[in-house]
Amino acid sequence: MSQALYRKYRPQGWAEVVGQQHVLQTLRNAIAADRVAHAYLFAGPRGTGKTTLARLLAKAVNCLNEDKSKRPCNECDYCRAVSENRFLDLIEIDAASNNGIEDVRELRDKINFAPTQGKYKIYIIDEVHMLSTPAFNALLKTLEEPPPHAIFVLATTEIHKIPATVLSRCQRHEFRRVPVDEIVANLQHIAAAENIQADDDALALIARQSAGGMRDAQSLLDQLSSTGERITMELAQTVLGTATSQTVLDLVASILDGEAARGLEAIHHALDGGVDPRSLARQIVDYLRGLMLIQMGNESQVETTKDIKAKMSAHASALTPADVLRMMRIFNEAATDSRGSWQPSLSLELAFAETLEAPAESAPVTRSTPKQSAKPSASQLTPVVVSTSSEKSGATAPTIPASEIIKVWKSFQAILKKESASNLAALLNSVTAIDVQGNTLVLGFASDVLMSKMKEEEKKRASQLIADALGVTLDIRCEVANARGKVPPHVPQDGMVATAIHQGGEIVDVQE
Ligand SMILES: Nc1ncnc2c1ncn2[C@@H]1O[C@H](COP(=O)(O)OP(=O)(O)O)[C@@H](O)[C@H]1O
Ligand SMILES: [Mg+2]
Ligand SMILES: [Zn+2]
Repeated sequence: MSQALYRKYRPQGWAEVVGQQHVLQTLRNAIAADRVAHAYLFAGPRGTGKTTLARLLAKAVNCLNEDKSKRPCNECDYCRAVSENRFLDLIEIDAASNNGIEDVRELRDKINFAPTQGKYKIYIIDEVHMLSTPAFNALLKTLEEPPPHAIFVLATTEIHKIPATVLSRCQRHEFRRVPVDEIVANLQHIAAAENIQADDDALALIARQSAGGMRDAQSLLDQLSSTGERITMELAQTVLGTATSQTVLDLVASILDGEAARGLEAIHHALDGGVDPRSLARQIVDYLRGLMLIQMGNESQVETTKDIKAKMSAHASALTPADVLRMMRIFNEAATDSRGSWQPSLSLELAFAETLEAPAESAPVTRSTPKQSAKPSASQLTPVVVSTSSEKSGATAPTIPASEIIKVWKSFQAILKKESASNLAALLNSVTAIDVQGNTLVLGFASDVLMSKMKEEEKKRASQLIADALGVTLDIRCEVANARGKVPPHVPQDGMVATAIHQGGEIVDVQE
């Protein structure tokens, strides 16, 4: 295979570096004035030019060109040696794989030897935050008294992990994410040089996907060009997985229609097909962001095909901006947090269940008439807590009326969130039906997926919450309730409620 684009296009001179002008200026001035520091710390996101500039510095300090302002000249022996990775006095250490004290000791032993070829020995220590504490201490000793022929460039993506003692010995430079338009220009340049046919909007998509990392952008271009086809928006979206998927459309539609079961089905279908739950959550957030842009009148900023745009416009007008914002927050949490790590799909399922909920401010609603109207807006998608009187269902008399439990139910949220048990909080929040039969609390869930999350431990905790609040200890049983019009078993099959459900209504609260 031919050389990777990001290797081939590594800048060999200052002028080729994109962005990072503040760093460039300082380094160039130092070279011109022969005032190079002995230790630098380059901090910033990956693929933004840290190693590139460290190598340029190595080249420039050893360059043989008489005119200091022309260094690196890329013509002298040393410049060429650095470019071709055969300059003996440039030593690159990857701290991620050599993080031990031995490595730093070895470095300290060797550092006092004069450079083999050039004037300066340059040590680039990449991912320096990975060094162990003893290794850091050993490095510190070296940084305190570096031999005059040594220059250190420490590079890191995680500056907060660098001890202050090390920081204070280094001239520090923060590398920034490269702006999208500068990445696009760079990609256009490479595409032209490599004879790659690429549309500008596709390059813009690549640039945005790389989040300011030039290497990632160049790698994506590489990957897409290897298809041999013209790089169009469509191709880019397909390969990058940013095409608005049917799953996302289905999910949003099911939220609009208040159809929990259909939404969960869409999620599981996607996950079964190998989609990563967090990336699905991100896709949903992206889509919602598009809806928000449309609602704010910035439709032109939404990059997608005409078909999808038409669907988005319909969704955008069916939801209020507040709905969209709330849903974005919920799914964004699922996309970023790791609470579901033991069960990767859980965060997503809970987020979905939560979007079907009323906003937290509102109290649990107890409606007395079945809701027959179709297509509520998302903010009206209040799950209705159901309880049926025991007389009607003919079950054992309840130890405590379900209405008492319904009253305290929402207060559990706050308690659990304080304990950072937000999993259980969201889970309890997704309960659609509550009933008490004798000494047993029957909880209805919208699907068996949600229901199955209520394991023994969760049940115990819920029971404890009820005991704390009401002074009664109940066993807990879970059931699937109100999924697609299914009548919960504890609702009298021939009663008002059942009829309403069969007619497509939501479950209604029934109190004693
Ligand atoms: N600022 C930049 N200007 C031009 N190309 C860059 C820049 N940053 C990164 N690149 C490209 O990405 C590749 C990797 O960059 P590198 O300097 O190794 O990133 P870092 O060390 O910050 O992770 C380079 O070979 C180059 O092709
Ligand atoms: Mg690097
Ligand atoms: Zn030179």
